[in-house]
Amino acid sequence: MNRKILVTSALPYANGSIHLGHLVEYIQTDIWVRFQKMQGNECTYVCADDTHGTPIMLRAEKEGITPEALISRVWQEHYDDFAAFHVGFDHYGSTNSSETRDFACSIYGKLQDAGLIEVRSIDQYYDPVKEMFLPDRFIKGECPKCGAKDQYGDNCEVCGAAYTPSELKHPYSAVSGAAPEMRSSMHYFFRLSDPRCSDFLREWTKSGSLQAEAANKMQEWLGGELSDWDISRDAPYFGFEIPGAPGKYFYVWLDAPVGYMGSFLTLCEERGLDFEEYWKQGSETELYHFIGKDILYFHALFWPAMLEHAGYRTPTRLFAHGFLTVNGEKMSKSRGTFITARSYVDHVGNTEWLRYYFASKLNGSMEDIDLSLEDFVAKVNSDLVGKYVNIASRCAGFITKRFDGRLGKSDRLAEIGFGEWAAGNFVREAYEARDTSRAIREIMRLADVANQYVNDMKPWDLAKQEGMEERLHEVCSTAINLFRILSLYLKPVLPALVAAVEEFLRIEPLTWADFETELPAGHVIQPYQHLMTRLDPKKVEAMVEANRESLKPAQAHSPARHAESQVHHQGLLETVSIDDFMKIDLRVAKIVSAEAVEGAEKLLKLTLDLGVCTRTVFAGIKSAYRPEDLVGRLTVMVANLAPRKMRFGESQGMVLAAGDGNGIFLLKPDEGASPGMRIK
Ligand code: 2FM
Ligand code: ZN
Repeated sequence: MNRKILVTSALPYANGSIHLGHLVEYIQTDIWVRFQKMQGNECTYVCADDTHGTPIMLRAEKEGITPEALISRVWQEHYDDFAAFHVGFDHYGSTNSSETRDFACSIYGKLQDAGLIEVRSIDQYYDPVKEMFLPDRFIKGECPKCGAKDQYGDNCEVCGAAYTPSELKHPYSAVSGAAPEMRSSMHYFFRLSDPRCSDFLREWTKSGSLQAEAANKMQEWLGGELSDWDISRDAPYFGFEIPGAPGKYFYVWLDAPVGYMGSFLTLCEERGLDFEEYWKQGSETELYHFIGKDILYFHALFWPAMLEHAGYRTPTRLFAHGFLTVNGEKMSKSRGTFITARSYVDHVGNTEWLRYYFASKLNGSMEDIDLSLEDFVAKVNSDLVGKYVNIASRCAGFITKRFDGRLGKSDRLAEIGFGEWAAGNFVREAYEARDTSRAIREIMRLADVANQYVNDMKPWDLAKQEGMEERLHEVCSTAINLFRILSLYLKPVLPALVAAVEEFLRIEPLTWADFETELPAGHVIQPYQHLMTRLDPKKVEAMVEANRESLKPAQAHSPARHAESQVHHQGLLETVSIDDFMKIDLRVAKIVSAEAVEGAEKLLKLTLDLGVCTRTVFAGIKSAYRPEDLVGRLTVMVANLAPRKMRFGESQGMVLAAGDGNGIFLLKPDEGASPGMRIK
């Protein structure tokens, strides 16, 4: 009986680009889904952009566009990135859809009917200038423990202390710079503390729906009393308004997982699938969510409790994975290892190289995985080019030149040491358990056996010997058959390459059952064409360079340096539209303090007064200015540059200076200008 399986990956937030850290999950999921499809199971893979919340609302505002315009642009970028990495969603939707809205509202209604929604007043910081309540991450101030300035509302990046926003000293709104006021407002809560929820979750945890590590985490969370979950946010907010509660919106994390259902419903309408069959309580279909370990809390507590009490089925299992490190360290912009999907495509190119590498690392656990860039190059070149593709490239030429492309008889696989593996069970079990690293090890062991066979049989010698024509034919045909089975096993990982192999072998798309058959004598293949080139390490280096945000460029003279690489004949940059230019918020700023930064050769830390707020900027101007000479003078800054975390703190903009390598010249407005004036 074919299984019916619905699979999801976490919905990426529509506020940033897809990077290699994201791709671990989508590639892992996609491999599993492709494997299930090859098994003949009815497996469906849906995902969507996660589009709501304050950050998206504010970013759209900053860009001068509507949130709808922002999320549709980002949707396209995400969609294209996933396509480039061969992530084969059956449907890629958006949480900002009528389907998701309807489910969110009806689930909420059922929770309300069950008496699991409670309304109560809470105190929260309010920005009186921007006229909005502030989420924790939009409040900054001094750490109550160590006094570090400009720390976020929930934890200190300097000393690591965790606290609530109300504990911050001298809090200010990161949106307007204004001092926030404490105000109260009615909020809607999902009563997780209700015994019906906690009892259910205790049972659910034991039902085998979680990896052991995740189940342990859950026991920890369920050990104490669960807190109710605040599911509402006040206007202005980009999201779905709560039925019967004007001015109140569903918190983005309420409708995000509901997006799994919304996206699937859209697909059902497209393909005539039965939504009910998959989501009704007691459904016999399987439902799997691939997620990062950081969002386990939402998926293992809130989500099953919501589903259960709204009368839906709960997930069969959550598959949580760890984080990606690069060269053994957290991805970092200054090291150039915070790599976007797009820059990988632009600089390295072949996305199946990365799919293969991630597959060789993932083992179905919650452990972090490391992308060692050196190892990446070595593994791709030795396994894929040196072992796998090599088998075909060494033998196919003889078939074409000497036998008109026609295969001959093959040796029996069992006799060449391939037999014990050929059943495919090892590889199948490993894929099923998401232990792709084991699958790849088994497959490469088989590739070694196949290569050993070719080495021993030496077709190139047979080709020169009188009367060995038939043996040459057999050896090359056997090698092609081995290559076909290896291709079948690698197909979930390398879908595009194996599609090319299918064309080369002139065969129907390979499915798992094909491992039991072989291409018969007389089958005609195409002339061999290059299937994969070696990965040049220079490409990887170029990618890292392109992602490196060195300490200097963010500062004063970066525009000039950037310009050097883009000069056109007249030495000027490409034309931009007035709209593009107007996006840059240039302001007169007064330098109220300037100090050297310990451990930074070139940086000065500047505090800039913008009239309505102050900003901290790290500028690479130390070689040209003494701090004390700067205090009190006016300059020009980019006030809406995305803040950038640096080793020494956060840089919240950029001061402008001229420079060509022979000096740095800070800009200054004429007499009469005052802090905060816009420059245009
Ligand atoms: O962590 C995130 O990026 C979220 N956007 C994931 C949402 S997953 C699901 F619940 F929608
Ligand atoms: Zn601190």
